Amino acid sequence: MAHPAPSGRRPADRSYDVIVIGAGAAGMMCAATAGQRGRCVLLVDHAEKLAEKIRISGGGRCNFTNRRVGAENYLCRNPHFVRSALSRYTAADFIGLVQRHGIDFHERDWGQLFCDDSAQQIIDMLRSECGDGGVDWAMPAKVLEVTRGDAEAERYLVDTSIGRFAAHSLVVASGGLSIPKIGASPLGYKLAEQFGLPVIAPLPALVPLTLPPETLSRLAPLAGISLEVEARCRGPVFREAALITHRGLSGPAILQVSNYWQAQAYADGEREPVTLDLLPDLDTEGWLLEHAGERTLLANLLAERLPRRFAHAWCELQGWTKPMNGFRHAELRAIAATLSGWKLAPSGTQGYAKAEVTLGGVDTHALSSRTMEARACPGLYFIGEVMDVTGHLGGYNFQWAWSSGVACGLAA
Ligand code: FDA
Repeated sequence: MAHPAPSGRRPADRSYDVIVIGAGAAGMMCAATAGQRGRCVLLVDHAEKLAEKIRISGGGRCNFTNRRVGAENYLCRNPHFVRSALSRYTAADFIGLVQRHGIDFHERDWGQLFCDDSAQQIIDMLRSECGDGGVDWAMPAKVLEVTRGDAEAERYLVDTSIGRFAAHSLVVASGGLSIPKIGASPLGYKLAEQFGLPVIAPLPALVPLTLPPETLSRLAPLAGISLEVEARCRGPVFREAALITHRGLSGPAILQVSNYWQAQAYADGEREPVTLDLLPDLDTEGWLLEHAGERTLLANLLAERLPRRFAHAWCELQGWTKPMNGFRHAELRAIAATLSGWKLAPSGTQGYAKAEVTLGGVDTHALSSRTMEARACPGLYFIGEVMDVTGHLGGYNFQWAWSSGVACGLAA
């Protein structure tokens, strides 16, 4: 057992009120909440190291929540589903917990909150909260089978590599599929299907987008350039940095719109491309027309507001290599439209190896928004990323893990 049980109860007792599968963000939050209510809780995880995803999050500093969290920060087939849990355990509640544990933090753009020191502090905090709840640990332990036997009606039986455990409530907190090398697995989706719950096909999200070879070869001179843009793809507009890479597009603006580009896979028809406004604060058409008739090259004019290397390579790419006085007004209007609405059609994504989260998952229509319990399967709960709830970049995915974890921990 990598993590000794901190209370007098030992896994040898084998019978629990609540078993939580997955000791990540949502699982630990749920286990701590249930344990502190006096429930007898076991956390099961197959990983050797605790909560690796928290440890690597936010560049090692864990963007643990956001000052402003609302339903509009999430993609979910059931758009109002997240409201109840988010309003009952808020960002302010989690900030209070962080403060009580003496963890210093700072705010970055758009209300994102990060640890000053290290993400490990969040893991230690959750572990200590589990300790306060007397939570037992079965870790590392492989889940072999989950059943709901007739003989022991109303009890879930969890067979693992270190023995069988039983409980009246089973919480599935096994996360999504991103970063398989640190323990992501499809167990949660399989359990949902086993118990008859619908699952929306999982897809990599918050993920760099790839471009087709013909576009890539044309963009090769721009690789490595990062610039602040407004990006959109059907959903909201995101004002952040976009990075052109040797495989396609990355950077926070692209990760944000990747969720919406991917979501189009669920609908019929052709996918809309990603649109980038390269000069977001500017009346671009007015500015270009102001300079119409000048002898300066368009690329040199653009270099006043964009990285010089980008301005030159981008004008080459578009074939706009003339001085300003070589363009008619109609042409300048077309150039302005391209600058503020540059369309790029991705060919795919860089997959789960590079994705921060998973889009899709257990369909929330089958769950109670108050408790996360499966309507058709009493005692079975799903929380965190395994559900069809996907947050924007910026601490929203952890906030969902905390809020859904607490909602379930208060009920299970
Ligand atoms: P999580 O993945 O945390 O935990 C699932 C647990 O289940 C794991 O411990 C795993 O070992 C276990 N498990 C899986 N399969 C199992 C099986 N078969 N048997 C037993 N156990 C099993 N979000 C955010 O808000 N701010 C941020 O800064 C970041 N940064 C970030 C960086 C990177 C690189 C990634 C990949 C992701 C992020 N995220 C993020 C997303 C965030 O990490 C994620 O949404 C939450 O960790 C989800 O919490 P869960 O508890 O649902 O899953």
